[in-house]
Formats: sequence, C-alpha cells, structure tokens
Amino acid sequence: MIIVNEHAREFHLQTQNSSYIMKVSPSGHLLQVYYGRRLRHQSDFSALHQQFVSPISGTPCYSKAHPNFALETACVELGTSGKGDFREPALHIEHGDGSRVTDLVYKGYELHDHKVPLPDLPHAIDPNGEAQTLAITLHDTVKAVQVVLYYSVFPYVDAITRSQEVTNQGEESITLERALSFTLDFTHQNFELLSLEGKWANETQLNRRSLSKGVTSIDSKRGVSSSNHNPFLTLVEPSANENNGRCYGFALIYSGNHQAMAEVSPHGLTRVQLGINSFDFRWPLAPGEGFSTPEAVMTFSDKGLNRMSQNFHGFINRHIISPRWQNRLKPVQVNNWEATYFDFNESKLLRLAKKAKKLGVELFVLDDGWFGKRDSDSSSLGDYFDHKTKLPNGVTGIAEKIRDLGLEFGIWVEPEMISEDSELYRKHPEWAMTCPDREPSLGRNQLVLDMANPEVVGYLFAQLCDVFRRTKTSFVKWDHNRNFSDVYSRHLSKDQQHGYYHRYMLGTYDLLFRLQAEFPDILFESCSSGGNRFDMGMLFFMPQTWTSDNTDAVERMSIQYGTSLVFPLNTMGAHVSGRPSHQVLRITPIETRFNVAAFGALGYQLDLTRLTHFEERAIKEQIAWYKQHRQLLQYGRFYRLESPFESNHAQWMVVSETGEEALVGYYQKLQESNRGYERLYPQGLNVEQDYTIETRKQYMNIRQFGELVNGEIPMINLKDRGVFHGIVANRYLQEVDAEIYQLNGDALCYGGLPLKPQFNATEWTEHFRFIGDFGSRIYHIRAKDNDA
Ligand code: GLA
Repeated sequence: MIIVNEHAREFHLQTQNSSYIMKVSPSGHLLQVYYGRRLRHQSDFSALHQQFVSPISGTPCYSKAHPNFALETACVELGTSGKGDFREPALHIEHGDGSRVTDLVYKGYELHDHKVPLPDLPHAIDPNGEAQTLAITLHDTVKAVQVVLYYSVFPYVDAITRSQEVTNQGEESITLERALSFTLDFTHQNFELLSLEGKWANETQLNRRSLSKGVTSIDSKRGVSSSNHNPFLTLVEPSANENNGRCYGFALIYSGNHQAMAEVSPHGLTRVQLGINSFDFRWPLAPGEGFSTPEAVMTFSDKGLNRMSQNFHGFINRHIISPRWQNRLKPVQVNNWEATYFDFNESKLLRLAKKAKKLGVELFVLDDGWFGKRDSDSSSLGDYFDHKTKLPNGVTGIAEKIRDLGLEFGIWVEPEMISEDSELYRKHPEWAMTCPDREPSLGRNQLVLDMANPEVVGYLFAQLCDVFRRTKTSFVKWDHNRNFSDVYSRHLSKDQQHGYYHRYMLGTYDLLFRLQAEFPDILFESCSSGGNRFDMGMLFFMPQTWTSDNTDAVERMSIQYGTSLVFPLNTMGAHVSGRPSHQVLRITPIETRFNVAAFGALGYQLDLTRLTHFEERAIKEQIAWYKQHRQLLQYGRFYRLESPFESNHAQWMVVSETGEEALVGYYQKLQESNRGYERLYPQGLNVEQDYTIETRKQYMNIRQFGELVNGEIPMINLKDRGVFHGIVANRYLQEVDAEIYQLNGDALCYGGLPLKPQFNATEWTEHFRFIGDFGSRIYHIRAKDNDA
C-alpha cells in the first residue's frame, strides 16, 4: 500500500512486513525518513524526521534560506553532487554549459495502481495485480532536467523496486556521467556488508565484512554481471544471522556492468547505491531525450537472512519469471556435455538418450558441438548450420529421433559470440567486438559479437528462429563464455562508445524480447561458463540458470548455498555428474551427488551408457523420487540451516506452504572420529502438529568398506578389491539403514531432533548412521495426519 500525507508532504510505502517513508524537506529535497519493520500509518511522521538545528562547521549549508540544512548529513533519496553532499552520487550530469552541479527538488507525484513497466529493459512484472507504483518527479533548481523516481511496492514479498528516469528538457545536450538506480541513506553505520563473490567453477561464495568509514565497492567491468561479484548486496546488523536480526537486501535487475557501493560518511551515515557501473559510462542526452536506469529491488527482513532470501525467492517467482513459466515444474534433463564433450555422433547421442529415457529422464539437451565444423572450442561460433559429419541427418534429424524416444529435445547455442574461424567472421569481421588496429585478445578462443549493432541482432534473430523452428526445440541453453576485451563498436559513433557496455545489453535484451515473444513455450536456461551471469535480468527471459560448471557435490554445497541467498531453487540448474568430478577429481557417492542436485532443477550430466548396475538402479530410484517431490523441491519455502562456509556440514530444507511436509538435505564433508551428538532443527513447521521423519531410501556401495566389508556387512566372504568384490559392488545395492523418528512439532522445532550417532569405529549396527566422507541424507518430514 502507498499512503501520501499530503499536508506533511510524506510518502509511506507499506508492504506486509515493512515500511518505507520519505518526506519533502522545507528546502524541497526528497529525504529518506525510515526503512524497516512495518509501522502503523500516522498522518504525520515528523517525530521520525532528522533534525537540522544548527550549521555544521566544515560542511556547506544548503542555502541562505536554509542555513542549518546540509546535504552532506541528510538522508536523501537520490545522491547528487555540487551542493555540499560529498558522498558518492547516484546521478552525475554534465550540463550543456559544462557545469556539473545538479540540485533536484520536489515537483510532484503520481500514484499508479499497477506496476509501471520499464521500456527496453527486463523489469519486475505483476501478473496478479498486486503492485502499486509511486512516481515522484524532481527537477533541477536551475537546469531543465527532470528526474522521475519510481517506487513499485510488492506487498506480499516485502519488496520495493526502484529506478530513475532522467529527461533533458532543455535546449542543449547534456551528458550523464553516472546514473545509478537508487540511493538509500541510513543515519547510522551499525552494519556489516554481505555479498556474493567468486570466480569460474567457484561462484557465489559468501563474503561478510564490517563497514568502516569510506566507500566499499563491489562491481563488474567484465560486460556481464559476473561470478566475481553478483549484482547483489545486503546490509545486516552485526548480530544478524540466518534466523534473527535486521537485513536489508538489494539486487539489480540487470546483466551487464554493475556497481554497488556502501559508504560510511564522516558523520556516520551509511549510503547504499546500486546500478549500472559508471566506469566507462557516459550517456549523451539530446534535447527531449530520456534515460531509464535498470530497476533495483530492495527487501527488508527483521527475521534474519532466511526471511530476506524467502522475500527474494517470492519476488523472483512472482515478479521476475515470465507468467508462462511461473510455478511450472522443471523437467529432469540429461545433458551430453560432460558425457561426450565435442566427441559425439548421432548413434552415441541416441544411446545416451535411450538410457536416459529408461531411467526416467524427460528432456535431452544437446550441448555444444552440433553446428558448423565445431569439434573443439576454436571454431564455428556464429555458424548455426548442421555439422554434417557428426549428425548426417542434421540437428533436425536427431531432434526427431529423440522425440520419437519419448523425450523432449533441447539445444545449446552461444549467440553473442563469434569464432575467428567461422564463415560469419570471414563475411562480417566488423561484427566482432574489436578495436581498430589492435590485435584482439581471445577468451576461450573466441570474440564477442557487437550486440549494439542492430544488424547483428537481426542476423541472430533469423538464425535462431530457424534453429528453434526446425528442431521444434522445447528447451534452449543460452551460453556466454567469455568476458569482454577490446571494447569498441564499429557501428557506434565516437560519442556513443562510452556507453557501449550498456548498449550491448540493450541489444541483447532486444533480441531476447523478440525471441520471448516468438517462442513463449520454449524454456530457456541462461548459462555463462556456469554462473557468470546469474542475475534477475537474465531470469526475466530465462527461468533457470546453469548454476556452475562445477558439478562436484561438495563444491556445489557451497555454491548452491550461496546462490540461495537470492535465487530460488527452481532457477538453479543442478546436475549429477560422473566420477571422479571432472572439475576437482573428487569421488563422491552417487547418492550425495543426487542429494545435492535434488535441491534445484535436476539433471544428469554423465555417460549414462557406462553406468554400473548399482548406479543405474540408484539413479532410476532417484529420478522417480525427485518427480514425486518435485513441487516441494523446486517451489517449497527454503531455509538454510547450517553453512558449509562455517562447518564440516551443510544443511538446508524446503517446507510446504502449510508446513505439513518438508525435506531436509543433510551433507557431511569429512567423517570425524568420535563425533558428538547431532540434532536437526527444522524450520517453518507447525508446532501443534505431530511429525514423522524418515530418510529417503538410498544405497551404499560396498566398495566403500574396502577390507572391512566382511566384518561390517553381513555377506559372503569377499576379498577386498578382488574380482568378486568388484562384481558384487557393481550389482549389489546395500540399503542404508532407514532412520525413522516420531516427534511432536513443538519438540521438533524447539528441542531439535536427536539423530542417531554416527559410526564410531566400533561396530556397524542399525543404531548408528554410517555417513562417511561426503555422505548425505535427505530427511522427509510429514505431519502425521498426512501419513499415507
Ligand atoms: C560452457 C558451459 C558448459 C558447456 C560448455 C560447452 O563452459 O558452461 O556447461 O555448455 O560451455 O562449450
């Protein structure tokens, strides 16, 4: 709800659990009054206003008429520079006369009973008509520049989106030197900053640090939002943890260069800002022209990080994912990449598909290597015609055969890239992102296409339409495998080069808008060497993202844990891969690989035609079980319980809307000797209900027991590593002892579930759990009345 106190010139934005209050100061500036837990509405919030009662030495006062008011110490709604605010600005303009002072004051507001759309950029949507938008117009006191600040309120997910639109209403051209999406100022500095950082195969690592005076900045200058710094940050009070404490989360709905800053001023105010990176950004605005920034979303939780993440998850599921894909179950896929890499032919793929079908897989995704003469990563990007040696019947032929097997067909493309060794490059070298007279630096042997050139966008649209149509594909994996270098467009004028990174994104988004309209039934998966572009901008077009090229189960515990800070499970591509892990050479149990991947959009990415009998049976049961619980696994309310960043274990869970059913993932890195007692503390259940807790039926490979096999497992005499041991290990499914517990909801939630102790070097009985190195369990919790 948005309430305006006309007389007091105050705006109160209310969500279910938060309030955001602004006011117009006597000087006309729009000031931030309060952001936090929801407040009852009052006709006047002046008791909360900042007091400006005397001038501050060393700080310019705003004007003779307002001698006690200093912008430097005010909580403003949009930081500008030139009138005494020395903090980083959100908007910086060079005016026609070369002056660079901007002073914005209040002009008026408009209230809309809907979400106002944002042109040309991905943005929050509101298919169920839940949102309201407040548009506040500011104008410069001298120059003919107008800024509209948009605030859209999404009450059920405690989120508010913000963006600004700058219009040049004067006679001369102006230049935007910086245009971030929002400013939010707090009057104190009692915060820590939590962000997601990483690198290839090591995405979304948690980084929590104290703030101190000065600017802490995280950004991307790579052309993509990047795995190095996700366009997201949280300010948390120092004592906040997963379940307690105040957290302010911010994320950008954008996929290009971004910049986030948390700044503590000399007077102990904290400013947070997020938007397009101002590095290498200048945007000329001719008379009459306007510029809209991407939207940022902010959410407040006073119940710790879990609630903040649930707000983000709800926001993404209801207001970012296209309505066509909201709440739709993601298919179980097999992807041939780690099974074959570039080395495949039609019969190899069909064997893989047949086996996948037998195991219960629903979608076959043909990865890289099906086009041009692409037998390695050094050629053919841009040439989306059939690789006839590998696929004599073309991609259309294999697609048909896959469908005949009863599987859906999906295909990999990397449209924004070009190989030097390609027909496209030979024809259009000027379409590549390269600088005149400089040898371009290659990344993965390839160059980036100039997406700021509408001819390139048009070419790609035609090519992709052709591929998608003739293969009748129902799934597209859209890759983007290098960061930018040699940034220059041969299509743009000299003046436009400064905004190239953003123009690239506008071109890419234009292509995606067109494809989304043309192929609404295709499920797109975004990928950028894994999670190098995992952001809400891409999710707007593509309801899931390939979380990481690292499919090792242990590494994935951290990557998926970190990713869950912002992104819901149904958006995270998560695959079971082979042994050892192709990224880290670690061997983990097939059941753990599944138990981790099950909390995501599940897939298999290994050579299914070479499975042992043990693996085959385990996988068949995994897929059947996943399908049975898929709704909960993809859309349940998610809680992080134990952090792999701080512990030898990871735990997380999903719970149904009613709290009657839940699944807990429990993961161990290394087995510890003589370990103490463990309890499971689930969240989100109903204290007044009684629950049964049971482990998912899973299997152990007796190879794990080596020479202890005969002592620990009652079985005919086996010689460790003997031929017979191998045969039995590959065929025999040793069921893990089922754990079954019964507990009242209140005891379960408040007291925690005492788990059976782990194996302790003594004996193997049903009283112990044998988890072992890289072992795991999934606990299924059901309210007793619901027991089938
Ligand atoms: C990237 C992706 C992988 C795979 C390869 C194909 O690395 O992240 O999943 O698709 O490209 O070249």
